[in-house]
Amino acid sequence: MFKIPPIAPERLPALLRAIPKAELHIHIEGSLEPELIFALAQRNGQMLPYPSVEALRSAYAFTNLQSFLDIYYAGASVLLHEQDFYDMARAYLARAAADNVVHAEIFFDPQTHTARGVPIETVINGLHRACEDARTLLGISASLILCFLRHLSEEEAFATLEQALPLQDKFIGVGLDSSELGHPPEKFARVFARCRELGLHLVAHAGEEGPPASIWSALDVLKVERIDHGVQAFKDATLMQRLAQSRTPLTVCPLSNQKLCVFPDLKDHNLRPLLEAGLCATVNSDDPAYFGGYINDNFTQVFAATGMTARHAYQLASNSFEASFASEPDKRRWQHQLKEVFERFVEYD
Ligand code: ADE
Ligand code: ZN
Repeated sequence: MFKIPPIAPERLPALLRAIPKAELHIHIEGSLEPELIFALAQRNGQMLPYPSVEALRSAYAFTNLQSFLDIYYAGASVLLHEQDFYDMARAYLARAAADNVVHAEIFFDPQTHTARGVPIETVINGLHRACEDARTLLGISASLILCFLRHLSEEEAFATLEQALPLQDKFIGVGLDSSELGHPPEKFARVFARCRELGLHLVAHAGEEGPPASIWSALDVLKVERIDHGVQAFKDATLMQRLAQSRTPLTVCPLSNQKLCVFPDLKDHNLRPLLEAGLCATVNSDDPAYFGGYINDNFTQVFAATGMTARHAYQLASNSFEASFASEPDKRRWQHQLKEVFERFVEYD
């Protein structure tokens, strides 16, 4: 076990920014900044129902998940061509690299686009090309996870999987997102079983707004390898034990939880107790263009609000590599880089 060297508390924000980290919960459509929405609308000759970037941004006041999803799906309607998807992912990856993200596993929602007549190849090829270029141009590794929208039917999820399969070498897994309440994991049992047979990685949003039962079903019915959000696990001691023992990762998104009123205030966020209970919790940005910050903003703000320390920072970054679907040699290399950054911070004290 790595012994955490003493680091002056005033250097914690700089340390949080400097540490190498993996981002495992980012919806690429949620990285679409209002400026890019306007630029793409203009390029594609579309009218937007907002007169300016500022007017659009000022509409970002959410009361719960659904109030956000309505505006998030509307924002994605400017994406039409392969280059649009490329530009969106390229912008996110550059921003992530600036936050010292060394590896990103990126969600995308194909059904949001195919429902508007955009071919799935347009979506996947644009995003995949941006991931490939990021490796050579930014030195960041990135892969894609296809999410099924849970407010749609399992039949529609099967149809999407069918369309995506010729491009299977361009995504590493599947997830489940959108409105959690009223759409439990059981609804997607058969399509997840099929994806498992196909050798895809499996993750699902569960326990964001929904109860611990949603997390139990994601684990036992869908057989997912990671839980996205999962913060409601805290209400169920048996589930907490199960998650700690199995080291099933939770991809936690503090600013998202604050903005969607999952917790009344960031100081009430339960990331710290989840971590201290031995869970493999990680920090992520979810939909950074809508929730007021990228991954380093999530780190610095939740640390400031809850009083976490360098020890927690090390654990969170280390968990992000452990939880990723990257190769073992890559994980070892990033864990080594993480230790080096900690040691550098002590030396310069
Ligand atoms: N899609 C984009 N962001 C989401 C979130 N926080 N929960 C569920 N679905 C989403
Ligand atoms: Zn999410």
